[in-house]
Amino acid sequence: FPVPLIHISETNSTNSYLQTFCAKEKTEEFTTVAADYQTSGRGQRGNSWESEPHKNLLFSFVLFPEFLEARRQFLISQIVSLAIKEELDTYTDDVSIKWPNDIYWKEKKICGILIENDLMGRNISRSIAGIGININQEEFHSPAPNPVSLYQITGKQYDIYEVLKNIMLRIQSYYNQLKKNDTSSIVAHYEKSLFRKEGMHRYKDADGEFLARIVCVEPEGRLILEDEMQTKRRYMFKEVEYL
Ligand code: BTN
Repeated sequence: FPVPLIHISETNSTNSYLQTFCAKEKTEEFTTVAADYQTSGRGQRGNSWESEPHKNLLFSFVLFPEFLEARRQFLISQIVSLAIKEELDTYTDDVSIKWPNDIYWKEKKICGILIENDLMGRNISRSIAGIGININQEEFHSPAPNPVSLYQITGKQYDIYEVLKNIMLRIQSYYNQLKKNDTSSIVAHYEKSLFRKEGMHRYKDADGEFLARIVCVEPEGRLILEDEMQTKRRYMFKEVEYL
């Protein structure tokens, strides 16, 4: 396997497991924890992440990106999203990255990412990225967050560790690029891969609903939209909703 892999059958959350693991012993970069089942998988905004046992990829890995300033931490999110998107592209069309870092197939969510960074002064001392990708699950019981699995898309079952291996290879390659500060192609690929990159779509912010198009994503991760009046609107995470 391309990275140190810890396989566990059950844990509360692979992110929490890896945090505890790193606190106890010196941990190699890219150490990955994969679980068959999580009893309290964590999502963004305090949501939970549901997955049937043995069906899907539930994993976390650790980076020590001390070279990266905290204000550029969105780059971690971008390389992880891109690596997953590009791997999923090899199985199906219509995969995109829904800003900031959900992976979508058409209008449905196939993968969620939860990145937890520790800062040391101005830089990032540790980054734990937790990823849930719906692979072989045949049906979902809770309608939120509009889930879909690779099986539902293609009618095929997959070796989840093969998918994990390929994703980690892609992440390693993007991470090397990041280390060389070669970020312009990362940002360009990310923008090109965005969900709703083309055309006007409905959004909602604190002031209400509006139609807008995506202009770009700023280095700090802000989404820039342009509404029908050609007014630019800038949003940090959670400040705008896709309708
Ligand atoms: C989201 O879209 O809300 C993020 C979901 C992240 C889920 C993954 S599953 C593996 C890792 N462990 C967790 O507890 N969460 C992440």
